[in-house]
Amino acid sequence: MAKGNPMLSAYKWWQKTTVYQIYPRSFADGNNDGVGDIQGIISKLDYLKDMGFETVWFSPLYKGPQADHGYDISDYCAISPEYGDVSDAERLIAEVHARGMKVAFDMVMNHTSVEHPWFQESRSSCDNPKRDWYIWRDGKGSQGSQPPNNWSSFVTDRGWQYDTKTGQWYCASFFEFQPDLNYDNPEVKKAMFDVLRFWLAKGVDGFRLDIFHAIHKDDQFRDNPFRFKFFPTEDDHDGYFQSRIHTVNHPKNFVLAKELRSVLGEFDKDRFAVGEVAGKPEVIKQYLGESHDGLNLIFMFETLRFKFTAAWFRDFLQRLETEFPYPYIPTYVFGNHDQQRFMKKLGNDVAKAKLMALLQFTARGVPVTYYGEEIGMKNANISLNMAGDPLARLYRWIPQKIADKLGLADLVIRERARTPMQWTGGPNGGFCSADVRPWVASNPDVAEVNVATQQKDPASLLNTYKRLLHARNTHVALQEGTIRLLDAGDVPADVLAYVRESGGKKLLIVMNFGNKVRKFRNRTTCTQVVFATDPGLQGQLAGADMRLQPCSGVILKD
Ligand code: GLC
Ligand code: CA
Repeated sequence: MAKGNPMLSAYKWWQKTTVYQIYPRSFADGNNDGVGDIQGIISKLDYLKDMGFETVWFSPLYKGPQADHGYDISDYCAISPEYGDVSDAERLIAEVHARGMKVAFDMVMNHTSVEHPWFQESRSSCDNPKRDWYIWRDGKGSQGSQPPNNWSSFVTDRGWQYDTKTGQWYCASFFEFQPDLNYDNPEVKKAMFDVLRFWLAKGVDGFRLDIFHAIHKDDQFRDNPFRFKFFPTEDDHDGYFQSRIHTVNHPKNFVLAKELRSVLGEFDKDRFAVGEVAGKPEVIKQYLGESHDGLNLIFMFETLRFKFTAAWFRDFLQRLETEFPYPYIPTYVFGNHDQQRFMKKLGNDVAKAKLMALLQFTARGVPVTYYGEEIGMKNANISLNMAGDPLARLYRWIPQKIADKLGLADLVIRERARTPMQWTGGPNGGFCSADVRPWVASNPDVAEVNVATQQKDPASLLNTYKRLLHARNTHVALQEGTIRLLDAGDVPADVLAYVRESGGKKLLIVMNFGNKVRKFRNRTTCTQVVFATDPGLQGQLAGADMRLQPCSGVILKD
């Protein structure tokens, strides 16, 4: 028997929410200058509300040089002028709330921009009071010209940067212009928690925590051991030939997670935090806390490496139920601003995208949608030479053909997944007018792939998302029900089927991942179609012997 779920809902809102990620630069351009902004976002909130999403996560809007588009912050309590100002942010929060929705801000605790006044002070001299706010060390070798140890960063094999002014090295876990703060200094922790409080007091419902697992490092600064792995992957951050045991997932981060949770607890209305961390299930559980007193949710990035087969997802869902049974809440992430577009992994096949959406919104946990996924936006064709992304610039020396062949181009040219949202079939997809150049070129397929066209087509991907969100928002079993996978032996090859159940109400979800018609014998009491990837089937009754079209799926209720 499925265990654990309460009869009466003990679920908090964030345990059953749906998340939509906005990359502010690319979502909607309110003043037509080619860069997305808060005014633009506000004008599109009805779109999100109408689709049925509850929580909107905004990639950083804070003030900073935008060298990493907001992940390099020079003032956590100000907004970058191209996006608006603090009063616009306040209006944004109010407008989201007015629609009964929730706001999650991105929070980059690990590092600031080199332009942050804290760092400016810190680097000015060895005895500046803010010196110890960052991680400074003497180098090795006679002149101290070698880095203090072998630590790599997330993006290169160099985790230290030399600063000529004081002749010491500072630690930078990401780009060299993003110096890491020193969380062993209680003043730093206090300052950052005060930043959280600043936004919580303004009403944000929670945070997405950027590279939270990198915050604490080994305080003895020991070398990381060798491991035969060059590129870090999204669910395993070892790389550059080292196992990052001293720089990633340090146990002090688990403690920090709890401290952060108690800061959230100072405020009413169940605020929440979702962590960008990666590691084995035991590690993830430590971030969540043994008593569920750590981070509320963790992005589970294994889904970024899915295989489009029933067997892959059966195994994945089974493992989630073994490793993260209720009250753990899984998350389903198929893309984000650092990843190639989800459609690329599906060979740009819209039918497959519909099936994936069915899985994402009906499996047990919180689905996270990256803007544009709902219309099937594709990876753009931007070359290493043309890319402005600092990650792409680091790897510009690699010949394009080789980068493409190794699959590297999609990993490092992150702009490929950051092109302007495609609202209409008009110039620049309606993001900005024809005479304005968007900060990154619009995808040339705007005429075929856009919101306006898909809104009119009941069978479109966009309307599939909308119907799925509607089903999820209507049926409690999809929000907080137990999940029971039907045994592989009881369903044909290529088919994945599971039952969600809450308060005696059941839903059966059946998906055919294959390219052949499959017969499925339905032994449950669920017969009425509440959703089908083929909208024509909606509302119909399904017999006990079902014929599933290739790459299709249904939700049935009893
Ligand atoms: C995270 C962000 C990424 C950013 C990096 C540094 O991985 O998702 O976009 O570049 O952290 O803040
Ligand atoms: Ca603008």
